[in-house]
Amino acid sequence: MNELDALVDSARAAFAQATTPADLENAKAQYLGKAGRITELMKGMAALPVDEKKTRGAAINLAKQSIEALLTERRQALADAELQVQLKAEALDVTLPGRQRGQGGLHPVSLTLERIEAIFGSMGFEVAEGPEIESDWFNFTALNTPEDHPARSMHDTFYVEGGSEKAPNLLRTHTSPMQIRHAVQHVKRHRAALDAGQPMPEIRVIAPGRTYRVDSDATHSPMFHQCEGLWVGENVSFKDLKYVFTDFCRTFFESNDLVLRFRPSFFPFTEPSAEVDIQFQSGPLAGRWLEVAGSGQVHPNVVRNMGLDPEKYIGFAFGMGPDRLTMLRYGVNDLRLFFDGDVRFLAQFR
Ligand code: PHE
Repeated sequence: MNELDALVDSARAAFAQATTPADLENAKAQYLGKAGRITELMKGMAALPVDEKKTRGAAINLAKQSIEALLTERRQALADAELQVQLKAEALDVTLPGRQRGQGGLHPVSLTLERIEAIFGSMGFEVAEGPEIESDWFNFTALNTPEDHPARSMHDTFYVEGGSEKAPNLLRTHTSPMQIRHAVQHVKRHRAALDAGQPMPEIRVIAPGRTYRVDSDATHSPMFHQCEGLWVGENVSFKDLKYVFTDFCRTFFESNDLVLRFRPSFFPFTEPSAEVDIQFQSGPLAGRWLEVAGSGQVHPNVVRNMGLDPEKYIGFAFGMGPDRLTMLRYGVNDLRLFFDGDVRFLAQFR
């Protein structure tokens, strides 16, 4: 092999070794640059006789062209390889399913609260909301449950900062404090009429919200929901409670095939008091008595704490469990599922 062929071969090998465009340009300089091998060979011709110059010049030119061709080929190959890498990195598989935006929905308990508000709204009840951090006065004392009353032990809760040392603030154990809070506001609003001896518009309100107790199993959660109901006027009786609650349950469960039982019970803030049980006459729950609320006629001491005369004003109150109602309506058997935040469960109620 003559030296020119060897030069072309070595250029081919050098170009092949270059794996980046920058490497390749460096390799090129060694052969085709100003101080490169070809330029060197050209300079070397100066000493040759004229006739040899011609053939030698033509041969060097041929070698130069070959090297240039190799360079172009290698440049193209590197550019192609770079493109392939980029294409691979930015590959888009158009056969994959599209990425969809998840559709949200209301929590099942929120759906129940909306239903409760709509049904009682149609019966002329306002909706009131109150604080979850409550004072001892509203949660217990004003509700005829003084300090050391044994009924307090059934309402073990979480105490928080604030209030007094003897009566610290707490996470409310029921929505009943809203009976007092709302009635006091109502009385304030109608103070002038009351003072003028005019009749006060009836108090008719529901108060849904979160409540807390130290309790946790399949049917109890430390945070749960209640919805209070209160109807106070000059002529409101237990009969009205029975009518309103029966109507509510039948509308809520969309069934007239349902009976109610008012079972005597005790609450410090009502007298008489009753637990409300319902029984479906057909369907998967047929025949079982299911407790859904506590209720009763508002105790005179509570009426007094509302700022009203118990000789003149009378009414009833109830407190129901929207979580329980949701479980019954949808056939859910573990309360904790509502508060685990698992979308596979929650998405079923959309
Ligand atoms: N607050 C009671 C409870 O949580 C329920 C209730 C409300 C009872 C209103 C009577 C009247 O158990």
